[in-house]
Order: sequence, then C-alpha cells, then structure tokens
Amino acid sequence: MKKITAFIGSARRKSTFQAIQEFERDLKQYGEIDFEYVFLSEYRLEFCQGCKVCFDKGEEFCPLKDDRNVLLEKLEHSDGVIFATPNYAFQVSARMKNFFDRFAYLLHRPRFFGKTFTAIVTQGIYGGNNILKYLEKMGENLGFHVTAGSCVSTLEPMNEQQQKKLKQKIRKSSEKFYKGLVRSTPPVPTFFRLMLFRMSRSSIQSLDESYFDYFYYKEKGWFESAYYYDISLRPVKEIAGCFFDLLGRKMGQHK
Ligand SMILES: Cc1cc2nc3c(=O)[nH]c(=O)nc-3n(C[C@H](O)[C@H](O)[C@H](O)COP(=O)(O)O)c2cc1C
Repeated sequence: MKKITAFIGSARRKSTFQAIQEFERDLKQYGEIDFEYVFLSEYRLEFCQGCKVCFDKGEEFCPLKDDRNVLLEKLEHSDGVIFATPNYAFQVSARMKNFFDRFAYLLHRPRFFGKTFTAIVTQGIYGGNNILKYLEKMGENLGFHVTAGSCVSTLEPMNEQQQKKLKQKIRKSSEKFYKGLVRSTPPVPTFFRLMLFRMSRSSIQSLDESYFDYFYYKEKGWFESAYYYDISLRPVKEIAGCFFDLLGRKMGQHK
C-alpha cells in the first residue's frame, strides 16, 4: 500500500479538487493507494517573518507556533506527494506560496529522497506552464523524485473536448507518477543536480559548526559523499563532480 498526499492550494472544492480526484481515480487503477487530501486553507500557517532562524539555528527555533509541523509530518509519512494549485495571477496561490516559504529551510536541507512527487496546476487560460515548472523545481530541490505534472485548463463552461483533454493529461501524469512510486532504484542525478549538490556543499563547508546547515551536512556525511544518497556515478560524472567541488571552493574564496 502506498501513501499519497495531495497538498491543495485552493480554498474551494472545485476545479483543482476535481483534477486531483481524477488523478486519484487513475492512480488507484494501478495499485493499492491510500490517498489523502490536505487543503492548506484548513491549517493554520502564519506568514514567514524572515528572521532566518530556521536556516541558521534550526527549524525547531522558529518563533511561529502553528500547524507547520503537522504538515511536515504529512510530507514525511507519504510515499508520494502532489502539490496542486490554481493559477492565481501567473503564480501559485498565496496559500501555497506561504506553505513553501515556511518550508524554505528544507531547500537548504533536503530530505525527501526516495519519495515521488508531481504537480497539478489548474487555470483559466494562460501562465500555468511556468507555474508547473516552478512546482517541479520545488519538488526537485526538496529532494523528491519528480515526475512530469500537468497544467489543465478549467475555463467554464467546459465543453466535451476540454473535458477529454483534461482527462488525458491527468491520466498521463498519474501513470508516470505511479511508475516513479514503484521504481526500485534511486534516480542518477543529472549533471545539473550534481553541480547544485557539490557547489552548495562547498559553500556550506565554508561556514562553521554554529550554522545548522553545516551541522546537518556533517551529520548526513554529505561533505564526503558523492551525492545526497548512495549512488554510483559513471566516471564522466565522477570527474564532473570533482570539477564542481573545485568550482564551489573557488567561488567560496571570492566571498
Ligand atoms: C484571484 C484569481 C486569479 C487568477 N489568475 C489567473 C491567471 O493569471 N491565469 C489564468 O489562466 N487563470 C487565472 N485564474 C483562474 C483560475 O486559475 C482557475 O479558475 C482555477 O481553475 C480555479 O481553481 P479552483 O476552482 O480550484 O479555485 C485566476 C482566478 C482567481 C480567483
């Protein structure tokens, strides 16, 4: 049984909810799934105040006391995660953006390796594809294995053709998501992801132990490892990795 959680950035049970319901129906055709809907509007999440305490000292020192950890537990206890949002003025809804801001420390200290991620954007006419890219980038930087999501038009009244298109798009992304869920080997990082890892660790290595990021990387063994998780790299990526380490150290010297 796989546990899937959909985090929803719309306060209504309308288009975004319907798109997720479609996704859930499709997904359940492939295997045993326990599917949970998390409407962000039903949780208390204050706006980030920008104190950076979560980055520097650790997330437990955040001065805001609200439902952040309830949501974190839901992320942690899922095998697969979906971020679903309507397009609001060419971006995710403010609720969803606030959810990301409150978890921005996880971008420094990613932890969702081995979990699969996808995104769904609903919109009237325009702008959603860039939002989808943004959400996929969020998923990757949080450590998830990302499968291609979907951006669907829900402009009302929807005719039969539009309904069909929506169903097709959702079916495709649910199939890819399921394949991601059952895959047995972790994905090999692309050159770009390898570069991000090696360069961020170089910059974190130039900090001292009083910074929580440094402590976290040290504890995880990331200052010595090839990547965030155990993976064997082909020689050309090994060499590229050494080059990225060097580049990261050089850039650190110019600070
Ligand atoms: C405040 C607001 C801003 C919106 N901005 C856009 C937009 O920039 N582009 C677009 O195509 N649709 C836009 N829409 C339309 C919604 O993205 C679309 O209706 C969506 O499917 C609504 O999802 P929901 O039914 O789950 O609330 C906007 C809707 C609202 C309420």
